[in-house]
Amino acid sequence: MARIAAVVLAAGMGTRMKSSLPKVMHRVAGRPMVSHLLATLDGMGVEKNVVVVGPDMEIVTQTVAPVPTVVQEKRLGTADAVKPARAFLDGFDGSVLILYGDTPLITESTLNAMLAEREKGNTVVVLGFYPADPGRYGRLIVDKAGGLREIVEYKDATEEQRAVRLCNSGVMCVDGKKLFSLLDRIGNDNAAREYYLTDLVALARADGDKVSLVEGSEEEMTGANSRADLALLEKIAQGRLRRRFLADGVTMTDPDTVYFSFDTRLGRDVVIEPNVFFGCGVTVEDGVTIRAFSHLEGAYVRKNAQIGPFARLRPEADIGENCHIGDFVEIKKSRIETGAKVNHLSYIGDARVGERTNIGAGTITCNYDGYFKHKTDIGADVFIGSDTVMVAPVAIGDGAMTAAGSVITKNVDANALALGRAKQCDLSGWAKTYRDSKKAEKAAKK
Ligand code: UD1
Ligand code: CA
Repeated sequence: MARIAAVVLAAGMGTRMKSSLPKVMHRVAGRPMVSHLLATLDGMGVEKNVVVVGPDMEIVTQTVAPVPTVVQEKRLGTADAVKPARAFLDGFDGSVLILYGDTPLITESTLNAMLAEREKGNTVVVLGFYPADPGRYGRLIVDKAGGLREIVEYKDATEEQRAVRLCNSGVMCVDGKKLFSLLDRIGNDNAAREYYLTDLVALARADGDKVSLVEGSEEEMTGANSRADLALLEKIAQGRLRRRFLADGVTMTDPDTVYFSFDTRLGRDVVIEPNVFFGCGVTVEDGVTIRAFSHLEGAYVRKNAQIGPFARLRPEADIGENCHIGDFVEIKKSRIETGAKVNHLSYIGDARVGERTNIGAGTITCNYDGYFKHKTDIGADVFIGSDTVMVAPVAIGDGAMTAAGSVITKNVDANALALGRAKQCDLSGWAKTYRDSKKAEKAAKK
């Protein structure tokens, strides 16, 4: 097995993001951009990863841990940015991938193609692409035989070189034995007065070393310099997730309106109606239907349950097999056991709802007293009447019922009926007398 290490450059703050967060912390499909890259590298069996950050980027260090970070003190260019990784890669003689933290969607197969080129004895392998608009990208200059000669930055390029459409993605794969000695020889005699990593190519060639080129798609080279770019990355990532789930046996009426997170897990024969949002940490088992306009986050939905339309499942909602969770129902940190139903307009928080229990419309668990959260425990085969309010902590025994409109403040025994509402009193003829007197009053005023 070839040994691989990776250096992820993430020292840029990303001024054009207009954010207090370092650029690589912005999320795509619910996960910071830098973490997407690290996950891809992890899947490839990269043995050493290091992330280069700028000063005051503690938040990146915390996010990528246990992957180590090193600091580039001053932004002197992409070649300078790789140098702080030297101590970490001392003596490493495998291949070193150099990636940009703000280009998170690069695929494993493209990186593997680069590694394969490295294995053929190339000292430097560059990832190029043909963007629809080459703009200000560095240009890859190739000789007549198609071999890579050098990379010219846009600022330093001649008109003829600027006409080249093959561009530098920035991603490279370099022989670890030579990387740092080559970096030491890179100067900053150029238009930007920066140390260009791209100079590696011409230097290696001057030494008589082989260099090579791999071509990738523009989609995976998409980087984030602005919030508009970030939205484009999100679109690409969502497209990938949708295609994956469709291929894995999920039905979606209108896939373009369904949003997933990087870690969404869906079983087979899951049906998702339009306009459904999956936040982080959702698992949905086989045969579940999620109806339109539902929002799920940190929830677990077991086999054949039905969710929505317009349901909200919040973190630690655990929905049992065959349960029905209906419209305008919010469930948080609660276990709804097999076959239970919460069909309309309810809030269930910090609760257990036992098997086959039916929760009537408009039911609320009062779980919060302004200071602490309390639990509501509802047994199996319970019938909770509509508009019941359960003031936690409180427990309802198996087979019990609550009368509609009840406020339940004390535990209810198994099989009991709890009535917690004012007794009805009818005033005979009162309504008609009232109407007649008001009509007379109005007529007198005219
Ligand atoms: C770089 C390439 C260019 C390529 C383009 C692709 C060089 C000299 N140029 O240009 O050929 O077409 O990427 O997007 O490499 N960074 C640091 N420290 C620094 C400078 C940069 O960490 O001192 C990081 C940035 O945070 C970013 C990445 O390196 O993630 C690229 O830097 P950027 O300034 O965007 O490079 P470009 O000028 O766009
Ligand atoms: Ca850039």
